[in-house]
Amino acid sequence: MYILGIDTSCDDTSAAVVTDDLTIKSNIVSSQHEIHGKFGGVVPELASRRHLENIIPVIDHALRTADVSIDEIDLIAVTRGPGLVGSLVVGVSAAKAICEARGIPIIGVNHIEGHITSSLMTEHPLEFPFVCLVVSGGHTNLYLAESTGTYRLVGRTRDDAAGEAFDKVAKLLNLGYPGGRPIEEKAREYTGETLSFPRAYLEKDSFDFSFSGVKTAVRNYIKKKARISDIDVARIAHGFQEAVVEVLVDKTIRLAEEHGVDAVTLTGGVAANGRLREEMEKQAVRNGMRVVAPPIKLCTDNAAMIAAVGVLRRAEAKEHDLFMNAISRWKL
Ligand code: KG4
Ligand code: ZN
Repeated sequence: MYILGIDTSCDDTSAAVVTDDLTIKSNIVSSQHEIHGKFGGVVPELASRRHLENIIPVIDHALRTADVSIDEIDLIAVTRGPGLVGSLVVGVSAAKAICEARGIPIIGVNHIEGHITSSLMTEHPLEFPFVCLVVSGGHTNLYLAESTGTYRLVGRTRDDAAGEAFDKVAKLLNLGYPGGRPIEEKAREYTGETLSFPRAYLEKDSFDFSFSGVKTAVRNYIKKKARISDIDVARIAHGFQEAVVEVLVDKTIRLAEEHGVDAVTLTGGVAANGRLREEMEKQAVRNGMRVVAPPIKLCTDNAAMIAAVGVLRRAEAKEHDLFMNAISRWKL
């Protein structure tokens, strides 16, 4: 069985072909970073226009790479939300049109469930329950995954997503967009004493996050300096990254501990961060747990993870669904 996955939730146009045993035959991602980079963040109108130009070539590329024709596709799984509505509708419309023209069943997928499912693709079968940290440019959510499709949201950010904080701090440091990778690279250059930025643990026992405070602290620190040298940039990047990583790891491990869970999964764009992976691994091992972190290509936005949700939920697919719409805010 071949499943075509489509994701246009934010600024990446992606299509993938996955089999029903979750083997990835292709996973094409066309990024728009060069377009949005000069604005320091995603410009929704530009993103949807570019999705429109890209969607058919990207689907075509995914089919050709998998060496599968559209007639061999048994199911199309498309991201319905959450995300930018103008971006989502491009993927949803393309999926509906192909399904209707070719008589292929369709299923609408929650993008966050896609991120969670990327860990199931990495370790298959991954035993439930497990704790899952989804940490990206749009989300910072902590779930207790109880069974396929049952994900209890236990904590989430009350303001900026962690990736958003990386992007905003990178902008303050003139490191470009998206900012996660350049911050990680700068932080790695730094070997001095750690600059201490505030960690928001919120109320005792809370699993929620807040990153606007650390971002503001960075802004105030920069404002006070007459000039920011290269070493300052590295010091700030390092201190900021340490502050974010510490809270993410502490809360994730504490949740696993409280529920007696021995596996922790780490997904979403920020899960590409080496320091986060390293610290999560260290704390997990210390507590007798293990970390499942998908390869970076499966952590950042991609359609293979959407196709995988289609596999797991294929009983819910519909033969016709011309009325399927995009849902920009869709709580999992
Ligand atoms: O999951 P993703 O590709 O798209 C969203 O759904 O948001 O995540 C993109 C986010 C951006 O904010 C980017 O700066 C961040 O992930 N990111 C990183 C790293 N690589 C990407 N953050 C920290 N360290 C990284 N190495
Ligand atoms: Zn995402």
